[in-house]
Formats: sequence, C-alpha cells, structure tokens
Amino acid sequence: MTFRARHLLGIEHLAPEEIRTLLDLAETYVDLNRRTIKKTDVLAGMTQINMFFENSTRTQASFELAGKRLGADVMNMAMSQSSVKKGETLIDTALTLNAMHPDLLVVRHQNSGAVDLLAQKVNCAVLNAGDGRHEHPTQALLDALTIRRAKGRLHRLTVAICGDIAHSRVARSNLILLGKMENRVRLIGPPTLMPPGVAELGCEVYDDMKAGLEGADVVMMLRLQKERMDGGFIPSEREYFYRFGLDAEKLGYAKDDAIVMHPGPMNRGVEIDGTLADDINRSVIQDQVEMGVAVRMAAMDLLARNLKAARGAEAAGVMV
Ligand code: CP
Repeated sequence: MTFRARHLLGIEHLAPEEIRTLLDLAETYVDLNRRTIKKTDVLAGMTQINMFFENSTRTQASFELAGKRLGADVMNMAMSQSSVKKGETLIDTALTLNAMHPDLLVVRHQNSGAVDLLAQKVNCAVLNAGDGRHEHPTQALLDALTIRRAKGRLHRLTVAICGDIAHSRVARSNLILLGKMENRVRLIGPPTLMPPGVAELGCEVYDDMKAGLEGADVVMMLRLQKERMDGGFIPSEREYFYRFGLDAEKLGYAKDDAIVMHPGPMNRGVEIDGTLADDINRSVIQDQVEMGVAVRMAAMDLLARNLKAARGAEAAGVMV
C-alpha cells in the first residue's frame, strides 16, 4: 500500500496515490460499519486522544467511533474543563499528553497552523480535525469517497463549491484534493466571500449560480461561517438565500444527475433549502456522514501502521 505520511495534517501533503490508497481501505470499513458487529483489532493496545478546541458533532463523534471500532483506547479531552482555561498553552498541553504515550492525537483548533505546530512537538501520529481556515483533510477525504461512490469515479468531474469560500477550510481541502485528482473545480459565491488571491487557485470563479452550476456533476454547498466573520459580508440571510441558496430551481442549472453535498452543520433556508437537503434522490449529505467514520478508520489504520513501522525500525537502530 502506498501511504507514507506520518501525520495527516492536510491534503496538500498527500500524493494522488496515497489518496487512492486511503479511499480503497475506507471502502472495506464501509462494509464493516454496516455489519451488526463493527469491531476489528487493528488499533488494539493503542491509545487515541481527541482534543477539540472548537465545537464539533460529526468530526468528533466519528473519530471516537472510528477509534473504538478499530479497538483503540479512546479518550476525549473536555477542553473547556482542561487547564487550557487556566492559561496553559496548546504546546504545553500537547507535551503533557505526549508524556502519557498516546499513539494517535486528533486535534481541532481555531488557529490555522496550530495542528502542524503541535505535530512537531509530539512523537505520536497527529490528525488534523480542522484548523482555522487552513485545512480539514478528513472532510475532503470523506467527500471524495462519497463522490467516488455516487459518480463511479473521482476524476474528470465538474464540481461546484458554493458559498462562503473565504472562511472555509472545507473548501480549501476539497479544492486541493479535487485538483490533485484532475477534476474541474468552480467556486461560486459573492465577491465578499471569496478569499484574496482566488484567481491564483487554479479554478473558475463565479458570482452567479446559474452560470456557475451549468453542467456541474457535483454541487457542494458550504455553511456561512458566522463565527469567523468580523463584519457584514452579506446584505441579509434572506437576500443571500435568494441569490446563492441552493433550491430545486437553481439545482436545475446543473446536470440532471448532479448530487448535492453539504459538510454540515447546515443553516437550512440560508445556504440550502431544507426539502432539497432531505431529498434522498439528490442529496448525499447523510452518505457523507457515513463515509466520515470509514475514512477516519482508514486514516488512523494507515498512520498506525506507519507509526509501528517507524518505532520498529527505531528499536532496531535503522533510519527510516
Ligand atoms: N463537517 C464538520 O466538520 O462538522 P462538525 O463541525 O460537526 O464536526
């Protein structure tokens, strides 16, 4: 299997072959997760610590389930009750936990780059569960698996990513992954919600849903990230939904078999019509959640293999 990474910090560090390896392994975990007995022992004896400095439902729950189904001992740190609240730094917190010999550290943090920094200080595998506006690699991987299963391939597709691109780590990771796998990516949203330098990202940019969605195979909606906004980026939610919210009429501009995606949590009636989000003939939003567990199992399985190999080589005095 081709997967050399020691940590999973961002899609930017993965080669296309590593992405394919991870998705192929995740397929086996989709099957396992649909059985009554969903357990394997590939992480037996290993310790996984989840540190979420930002709120999460999907990512935290699926990392916890993934670790437990792989047989790891899983600990969820309650960050709001930790010594971070007494002023302990992120690095001191990480060093403290590192001294307890975890094998996998799953980290979500509000600052871009914080997870990379932490990974340099510890000697276990680190998985980025979302850092600021930077990356959310497991989200892009679960989106990729969802697309591959729905469309039968993960190349030469036209994917429209719509909405609040400027504040979205999901958009950034997806943009990188879809580009690496040779897809055509379009970004659609108001100019106020486009990041600076968007023209250099190697994708097409639209501020009109009709033009941007024409011929799209995949329509990926994004949440308005109000928690990262420090000013008025849209005139009103009502106006935003009128121009950029996805409903059946706007979906009609895309291909007849286009799928609808959203990473969640959704603002129904703001970026997506609730009825369309629930339409199982078009929406794959619940599939994305299901794929999230399988992808996180695959990521931790592969990183644990590399960790065991590195430790084995170190014990034998071999450089890797
Ligand atoms: N998609 C996503 O990251 O959702 P959560 O914030 O609920 O984890």
